[in-house]
Amino acid sequence: MNAYSPTPQITVLDAGGQYCHLIARKVRELGVYAEVRPSDTPRQDLPGPRGIIISGGPSSVYEPGSPSVDPAIFALGVPILGICYGLQLMAHLLGGSVQKGDRGEYGLAFLELVGAAPLFEGLAADRQQVWMSHRDLVSATPPGFQVLGRTETCPVSAMGHPARRLYGVQFHPEVVHTTQGREILDNFLFRICDCRKDWNPKHRIPLITARIRELAGSRNVFFFVSGGVDSSVAYTLCLRALGPDRVRGTYVDTGLMREGETEFVRHAFDIFGSGTVRVEAAEERFRSALAGVCDPEQKRRIIGEEFVEVQEQIIESGHFLEGDWILGQGTIYPDTIESGGTAHAAVIKTHHNRVPGIQRLIETGRVLEPLSSFYKDEVREIGLELGLPEELVRRHPFPGPGLAVRCLCSEFDAPVRRLEQGWLLPLNSVGVQGDSRSYASVLALDQFPSPEANLHQAATLLINRIRGINRVVAQVQTRAPLDSLQVRRSALSAERLNRLRHADAIVRRLSRQHGFDSQVWQFPVILIPLGAPAFPDSLVLRPIDSVDGMTAHSVPMDPALLRTMANELLQLEGLCAVFYDLTHKPPATIEWE
Ligand code: XMP
Repeated sequence: MNAYSPTPQITVLDAGGQYCHLIARKVRELGVYAEVRPSDTPRQDLPGPRGIIISGGPSSVYEPGSPSVDPAIFALGVPILGICYGLQLMAHLLGGSVQKGDRGEYGLAFLELVGAAPLFEGLAADRQQVWMSHRDLVSATPPGFQVLGRTETCPVSAMGHPARRLYGVQFHPEVVHTTQGREILDNFLFRICDCRKDWNPKHRIPLITARIRELAGSRNVFFFVSGGVDSSVAYTLCLRALGPDRVRGTYVDTGLMREGETEFVRHAFDIFGSGTVRVEAAEERFRSALAGVCDPEQKRRIIGEEFVEVQEQIIESGHFLEGDWILGQGTIYPDTIESGGTAHAAVIKTHHNRVPGIQRLIETGRVLEPLSSFYKDEVREIGLELGLPEELVRRHPFPGPGLAVRCLCSEFDAPVRRLEQGWLLPLNSVGVQGDSRSYASVLALDQFPSPEANLHQAATLLINRIRGINRVVAQVQTRAPLDSLQVRRSALSAERLNRLRHADAIVRRLSRQHGFDSQVWQFPVILIPLGAPAFPDSLVLRPIDSVDGMTAHSVPMDPALLRTMANELLQLEGLCAVFYDLTHKPPATIEWE
């Protein structure tokens, strides 16, 4: 059980799926506290739940060593819902069969319900949109189970044994693209498991502060604050729990932050009284540590390690924090899952809060993470409840490694290549496909991304069809024809970072002025080393909508705003073209690295 929470009524067994935590979050949103456990947790170690959900995952049930569950859970008499891999595992363990499908089913599909069952009670009866991400499928249901739903590609998209209260669905009810997913989970919780409502993050503040006092004991807490929502809320919780004399924060100016960020942080933390947060200038050390580094994972590792070193030096200097100390962090649930923080999840990106230096501190019990079981929207609710200003609490998320992971580098010169469908840019970006990390090329389309062109759908189809790409962008404006452009050998220089910083500031200003910033959850701007000798770089606009960063939609932009942005951006020195990223998550991640 998590230190800050009640006994979970619902346990989500994690078979390695990227959406595993999303399931728990959706259950909590319905007012029921849920926690995640490794899939193979023995029956006797499950915390007396009212229901179990088995998550999706990247494996195949018939592969040796693939995640499983303790088969005894099926005899507990407790309702169980298997989702995606969870459904397949249920079929496999209870005497049905699973096989590889003729083709994958990634993205939107249409479910047709067959027969009646409490899981689908009250749902619109006709075809409904669901979100799928699988290749394997159930080819025969276990004895006693009935088929409850199918799609064109997947004959057993839902199955159940209502008398034993065992259900499985191939689609993902936890993602927003499954239009009636919330109702399905609601049915599972309240009609099938008989749960009671016991969860509201706002009401957890007294419990969290009590736990902080208990875990800190007589030790002080030291924080790296970033000006983002998570570290600010975690910091405020510790201040509230321990008082201003025992909590200190440092904002490390890595030189990788956005324009005006240091001033914003100084100003934002003034509300806690002067002197609790200080600014450490460290631009030079980050710049030299990152010189010549192109690989995204290596960038992340270096940035994380530099943070730890700066932190160790600050602590050792000891002149502002006396006595024993521990490190406070604003780590939230999704940060831990995408770093492979749960047992079976593949590592998509190493989060800077989980690099080896910090792992060592975690192992010796010297890290306090009061938000580690909360999701972004829950953290925002807590922040507002604590009285933090809306301007801070509603900020778009910004990654810890900062502009470094939005400034792509290349070790080689390489030309773009014509494909039938567009231009293949010889640049890799990170994606998440079938629950695993991908690192693949980008396809650039010639068309302008107008609403009529409906390029988002085309992008999804192209990624499913063309091997070796995980991202599609559309050309907004360029100073030279695409076929004349080259990816150019380039590093993370001060010049390029400044170029990106200026571009990012322009995009932020224009999107605020046009009211577009409130329509998006996050709006990364990425610098790519694609251009011509006189203007060596290009930009990608990546406005996305999301609930928690686990899945995301590329947000359509008004063509007039796109043109305004591109016109102003291309006046910056060194910029060649502006692209617009059409890709949802999955298959691409939000950040490019
Ligand atoms: P991806 O790119 O993985 O991003 O789809 C999901 C969300 O996480 C943010 N992100 C990070 N945040 N440290 C952070 O604090 C990191 O290392 C990091 N990497 C990604 C990203 O901006 C998005 O909101």
